[in-house]
Order: sequence, then structure tokens, then C-alpha cells
Amino acid sequence: MQISANAQAVAYLVSAILFILSLKGLTHPASARRGNFLGMAGMLIAVIATLVGNEVQSYGFIIAGIVAGGLIGAVLAMRIQMTAMPQLVAALHSFVGLAAVLVAIGTFLNKRDAGLLNALLMGELSAGAIIGAITFTGSVIAFGKLQGLISGKPVKFAMQHQLNALIALVTVALGVHFAATGSIVSLILMTLLALLLGVTLIIPIGGADMPVIISMLNSYSGWAAAATGFTLHNNLLIIVGALVGFSGAILSYIMCKAMNRSILNVVFGGFGSDSTGAPSAGAAAMEKGIKSASVDDAVYWMEDANRVIVVPGYGMAVAQAQHALKELMELLEARGVEVKFGVHPVAGRMPGHMNVLLAEADIPYDHVLEMDEINSEFASTDVTLVVGANDVVNPAAKDDASSPIYGMPILEAGRSKQVYFLKRSMNPGYSGVDNLLFYQDNTSLIFGDAKDTIEGMVNALKGGGH
Ligand code: TAP
Repeated sequence: MQISANAQAVAYLVSAILFILSLKGLTHPASARRGNFLGMAGMLIAVIATLVGNEVQSYGFIIAGIVAGGLIGAVLAMRIQMTAMPQLVAALHSFVGLAAVLVAIGTFLNKRDAGLLNALLMGELSAGAIIGAITFTGSVIAFGKLQGLISGKPVKFAMQHQLNALIALVTVALGVHFAATGSIVSLILMTLLALLLGVTLIIPIGGADMPVIISMLNSYSGWAAAATGFTLHNNLLIIVGALVGFSGAILSYIMCKAMNRSILNVVFGGFGSDSTGAPSAGAAAMEKGIKSASVDDAVYWMEDANRVIVVPGYGMAVAQAQHALKELMELLEARGVEVKFGVHPVAGRMPGHMNVLLAEADIPYDHVLEMDEINSEFASTDVTLVVGANDVVNPAAKDDASSPIYGMPILEAGRSKQVYFLKRSMNPGYSGVDNLLFYQDNTSLIFGDAKDTIEGMVNALKGGGH
């Protein structure tokens, strides 16, 4: 069965509307499921409308691709740990980039053989290949950093920005030459240089600044898809690419604002990581040593508290402590204690990571507050329970100009009367920076897996004593 181009255009329009409604739904946890469903429905319509369109010449390759890709996707979805999601997202972005490069090269070879090349088309192909190649290698590097295959630390060398600018200039010049002449040598050199640029742009970024890069690459993958849409004359791909491109760019902007970074610095690579090794406020704080506490100590203070704030972080995801936290919340609330959750925009390893886990445990949305909403409340809070979070409460971000996280706004946990950190060791967080809050007088560390510790608290509260 084949449908007319007009019928396909109408189906694409319906899909595009569903995608926009899907994005709208995904802006709030309460409507996120509906948003997801609308997105899936839009994608189903888009795929069917494409398969029954008149451009399809043979179904063999398509079916083989769908079966192989579908199988890999299904196995990945079933096997993937929640904590490895950021790496998976980075890997998927790399595929979008690679696809854009392959489509550009494939289209060039096809149209050249058919004698259908023109400067406009080759300009589109250049854009697709360049953006796709940067997205591909940039995402591979991000994957390597997140997976711990390559150092998460910023890799810096002399004249880095100048080198990036030079590579970018030569790449664009080759693109223009290719569009003007159709030279395959220019196309290949341009693509190779863009692949290199993806590496040199992402390699200098590390530590706490990775979140911005993930959303940036998300945006790039959208633009790569949009460029592919132009090449293939597929309006829906252009719309979807632009939606992903813009929403990724908006998310990057929000992340930059949350982390007090400049978006221009992110785009041009290597920012916010100029650790100078100057004398740090930390040295003085560390001499004080740290205190450790027991589960019973924390329960003693929480039981009599008026307000407890929980600050979840990546460790909560590792320990899968969210359900135990829900139980702790209910037990404390039954004793008249007000319990709130303070979520930092970059807590965990991907945007919204903590919100998803807290929602999974059915913690009511009105208990979950963003950094700006909750920061004024710490000063009047009796106990802050920092559950597997670290960088997002580290005062070095405010007090230590030599720190790589300097300038990032933090959750002001240290202002509450008592702070308990739930973690397994003295290891630092993702940025590798020592946490100055550990050494503050009102802070104690409760060592152990966060889930075990919270279950211990739950048992102590259920037992009615400690
Ligand atoms: P982190 O600073 O990474 O700290 C995580 C803490 O969890 C560590 O102190 C770790 O200490 C502890 N932990 C790990 N497993 C645990 C377990 N089973 N039980 C108890 N504790 C456990 O986390 P954060 O405060 O959420 O900050 C996020 C960091 O990741 C930021 O630097 C951010 O820039 C970066 N990042 C974020 C994103 C996004 S988009 N959110 C993406 C990439 C990177 P122990 O090992 O001692 O237990």
C-alpha cells in the first residue's frame, strides 16, 4: 500500500503536533507519562507514514534495520541500570550524529552518479556532515567520560582554544569548497576535521561541568537530524530536529544558569575548570577533621525536629534508596515532622534524575522543591539529610576560588542546625573535589550504603526507640 504525498504530509503534521504536546507534557512530573505516550504515538504515526510513502524503493533493508535495531534497543532497555542512563543517552546521541554523516555521504554519492548535484544541496550536505561528525565524536568522548573509560578530569593543553578555532575555520572553508566544486577530497577532509573537532571540544570539559555537555550534545544531535531532514527533503525530520535542537539548547541554557557558567564558554569548550592550585579554604577546614555518627544519633535529632530536609544525590540512585526514603518520610510525618526534599538542578547524572526517582517512589510532588525554592528554608531547618549527594552541597563552590566547581550555586545544607551525610567512604563526588562541608562543626558522616542506613533509621523509628 502506498499513500499520496499529501496524505503523508497530513500524517507528518499530526505527528509534529503530538511531539509538541509531548514536550509540553514532559515539563512536569505529573504530566510526564502522558507526554511520553503522546511522543510514542507521534513516532508510530511518523514511522508508518514514512513506510507507506512513495519514496520507499525496497523494504528488505528497512525490515532488517528495524529488526536488528529493535532487538538491540529492547535488550538495552531491559538491561540498563538507571545509573547508567546518561552514558546510554550519550551513546544514542552519537548514533544520530553518525547517521547524519552517513546520509550526507550516501546522498552525495547517489546524486553525483545521477548528475543531480547543485551548490544548495552540497551546502546542506556540508552542514549535515559537519554537525553530525562533531556530535558523533563529541558524544563518544562524553560516553567514555561518563562510563569512566577515559578520565573525567578536564584534559587541557596550551593554545587549546586557538587550535579549536583553527580546526573549525578550516572545516568550514573545506565545506564551502565542497559546496562550490563537489570535490570528494574536500568532503572527506572536512568530515575528518569535524570528527577531530568533536574530540577537541569535549575533551577539555570535565568534572562538575559534564551536565551542560550532555544537554549541549542533545541539542547538536537535533540539529544534525534537522540537517538530514533538509538533505532527504523530509519535513518531519526538519521539525523534529529543530524541536530537539531548541529544547536541548534551552536545557543547556537552564543548566548553565543553574551552574553559573557562560554558554559561550561551553560551546567553545573547556570552561570553569581553571583550578590554579592556589591555597584553598579547604586546607584550614580539613585540619579540623570530620565527625562520624550512628543511625541512632540521626534518628534522635530527626524525631524531635520541626523540619527535616532531604538532599538526594547520585548516591541515592546508586543505592536505590528512594523507596526507603518514602517510608522514612511517612514515619517522620506521622510524628509531626515536616519533611521536604531539596533537588539541585545537576544532582545525579542527568537532568531530572532525582525527580524521576522520587516520583517512582510516589513521593508527592509538593514535597519536592527546587534549589531556589528551598534555599531560604535551610536556616530554619533542624536536620538536613544528605543522601548520596556531595558536589551540590559543597561550600567550596562559594568559598574556594581555586576550586573547579567555584561559582556553581549550591543547596545551602550547611546552614541547617545538623547535617548528616549518608555515604560509604571519604571519596569525593563526581567533580573529584573535597567537600568542605564535611569539616563544619554541625556536620557528621554516617558511613554505609544509603539504602541500608535509611532502612536502619526506619527500623529505629518503627521500634519506637534508639
Ligand atoms: P556526587 O557529587 O557525584 O556525589 C555522589 C555521592 O554519592 C558520593 O559522595 C558517593 O560517596 C555517594 N554514594 C555513591 N554510592 C552510594 C551509595 N550506594 N550509598 C551512599 N552513598 C553513595 O553527586 P551529586 O551531589 O548528586 O552531584 C552530581 C555531580 O554529578 C555534580 O558534580 C554534577 O555536575 C555531575 N554531573 C551531573 C549530571 C547531571 S545532568 N545531573 C551529569 C553528569 C555529571 P561514596 O563513594 O563515599 O559512597
